[in-house]
Amino acid sequence: MTAFVPLVLDQADAAAALWEEAGLVRPWNDPRGDFARAVVGPTSAVLGLVEDGELIASAMVGVDGHRGWVYYVAVAASRRGRGLGRAAMEAAEAWLLAAGAPKVQLMVRGSNAAVLGFYARLGYADQDTVVLGKFLDPELEALRRTGA
Ligand SMILES: CC(C)(COP(=O)(O)OP(=O)(O)OC[C@H]1O[C@@H](n2cnc3c(N)ncnc32)[C@H](O)[C@@H]1OP(=O)(O)O)[C@@H](O)C(=O)NCCC(=O)NCCS
Repeated sequence: MTAFVPLVLDQADAAAALWEEAGLVRPWNDPRGDFARAVVGPTSAVLGLVEDGELIASAMVGVDGHRGWVYYVAVAASRRGRGLGRAAMEAAEAWLLAAGAPKVQLMVRGSNAAVLGFYARLGYADQDTVVLGKFLDPELEALRRTGA
């Protein structure tokens, strides 16, 4: 029942809906574009759990040549609290280990501090690091600055 598999391009709408419901979408992140890049790229994937035709959990994974990263960890609101978030992270870790990543990292938005307890249960610790970022597309950077 907890078989996470790599999703394919035509599941972009289902993923976007799951991420929207989970509060993970921002104006400067097009979820369908994010999904497509991760699914098509050779060093990334979106792992998903489908039950009765419905996508109920996900984790985007990718290796950058140094670390493994996880994004868009989400469980459908009606399915939370039953171990699926843990299963999603275990699937992500297994995928990244197989891809050769020696370490897994992820980012938590400051506005989502409530989820830190979830990651702590799974053994994740604050890396005492500040994440800096800048969109290389000036329009997206402007959107991030005004829409934050
Ligand atoms: C975070 C999320 C994926 C957790 O999914 P879930 O299916 O409810 O989590 P699980 O049932 O697998 O919980 C795993 C463990 O974490 C604990 N846990 C879950 N959410 C927690 C929270 N907010 N605070 C503290 N502990 C939490 C559970 O009690 C459980 O502990 P146990 O294994 O010792 O019993 C889900 O709440 C979600 O989709 N949230 C919205 C999207 C989001 O914020 N994603 C993370 C972006 S960085």
